[in-house]
Amino acid sequence: MQITTQLAPWHEVKADWLVVGIWENEPLAGSVAELDGKMERQLTRLVERGDIVGKAKETVPLYEPRGVAAQRLLLVGLGPRAKADPAALFSFGAVAARTITEKACDRLACALPESAPQLDSETIAALVGGGLRHGSESAGLRKNKPDRFAPKELSLVAGPQADRTSVERGTRRAEIEGRAVSLARELVNLPPCDLYPETFADRARLVAQQTGVECIVLDERDLAAERMNSLLAVARGSDRPPRLVVLRYHGHPGAATLGLVGKGVTFDSGGLSLKTTEQMLDMKCDMAGAAAVLAAIQAVAEQKIAVNILGVMALVENLPSGKAMKLGDVLHARNGKTIEVLNTDAEGRLILADALSYAVDQKAHHLVDLATLTGACIVALGMDVAGVMSNDEPWSARVQAAAKVAGEKLWPLPMDPHYGEMIKSDVADMRNTGGSRWAGAISAAKFLEEFVASTPWAHLDIAGPAWAEKDNSVRGSGGTGYGVRTLIELARGYGA
Ligand code: BES
Ligand code: MN
Ligand code: ZN
Repeated sequence: MQITTQLAPWHEVKADWLVVGIWENEPLAGSVAELDGKMERQLTRLVERGDIVGKAKETVPLYEPRGVAAQRLLLVGLGPRAKADPAALFSFGAVAARTITEKACDRLACALPESAPQLDSETIAALVGGGLRHGSESAGLRKNKPDRFAPKELSLVAGPQADRTSVERGTRRAEIEGRAVSLARELVNLPPCDLYPETFADRARLVAQQTGVECIVLDERDLAAERMNSLLAVARGSDRPPRLVVLRYHGHPGAATLGLVGKGVTFDSGGLSLKTTEQMLDMKCDMAGAAAVLAAIQAVAEQKIAVNILGVMALVENLPSGKAMKLGDVLHARNGKTIEVLNTDAEGRLILADALSYAVDQKAHHLVDLATLTGACIVALGMDVAGVMSNDEPWSARVQAAAKVAGEKLWPLPMDPHYGEMIKSDVADMRNTGGSRWAGAISAAKFLEEFVASTPWAHLDIAGPAWAEKDNSVRGSGGTGYGVRTLIELARGYGA
């Protein structure tokens, strides 16, 4: 979906739908007031009668509005102007698209909200455009009849006085970042019969080729040569061989390298510690971390951001079989540490252990890993918020700041040394579960910490926000693309 930019008086915009944002609790101003004038003050009357209040996510359609070139108007609440943050602007676009794209629409135009404090016009265009794209998508990849209709033409409209260069820059960002989030969502939504380690690696290779990113794929023999026994132990239960994809983007010669590591369990049955049907139902989503890493690198390369990135995607299937790892097995991880397996369903940390140690040896100066790692993190923070756990306060703060700019919700969990006792084993250096239900997200992070040496590292447990069971007013159900935007922002700041 190509997004174009228009600078024009809003009443002149030709479109099937024109989206206009209304701030809560304030008189109509700027281009909205001007539009209102052309409409014989119909908008003012709607506000006066309380038909539109401007509350966030409120929508009011106007069919065949008088005095404007567009066939329909969609008024969408923006919430209070003083509280306008990246998430609010993104939601504005997404809610509008969710409403409009239920039916086919050739030309969708969206007027860009003016003068949100602290957000420049480039950022507003990037957020609103990204939201519009987000709301136009559905998980129905394999439906014969589509259940949602992305507009044929999508344009962002600014007033005639706007700064064209910055609006165009924002539009370009919306396009690239929107496409990246779509890629992550698509990969998560693909059925596990089609997306498994080999096909995922093929797709990564293709993305790398298209964007000029270096890509190597380690197969099971390479992995054995690399001593990635912990990852291989998880993969052993499946007939599908594992892959480790290594992506390298060089955008800033001589500068430090940001390492991004993703959990890519293309299906998590739990292994011999088999999940119930209920628990297993959505476990094609267990590769969302790896998808976010690939998608973010695609966007960073397309924007030619001045940064160096090492991406590592650990791809396996976790299944039970006669070859599967057993409870009580002791694994010799790549960094020499030994792991007692007490639950084969705690497989994410086993594959990340080797992927993280690999990234450390490949000279990543800072690390971020993304993983749908624990149900415990969902218990702690709910479905919409990811947990961040780190060995380095300043680095964690930078990741959290990036998430804020990206409009993604992230919250820190403590990593005090005493949590390390939860993963002590009688027979090996550590065990792969915390041994009780308590602080399960943190014991998992403590486990990962054993594999990052002294590299500043932040672990994002995205088990909640990576996947949506139900749709809502800003997005459909299924993969959400969570983390992609945070990683892009982090990369932008890292290079600067
Ligand atoms: N992939 C799951 C975590 C998960 C749960 C992701 C729900 C998304 C939604 C992970 O591999 C897992 O099974 N974790 C176990 C760990 C336990 C055995 C220590 C869990 O959370 O129950
Ligand atoms: Mn599991
Ligand atoms: Zn898992």
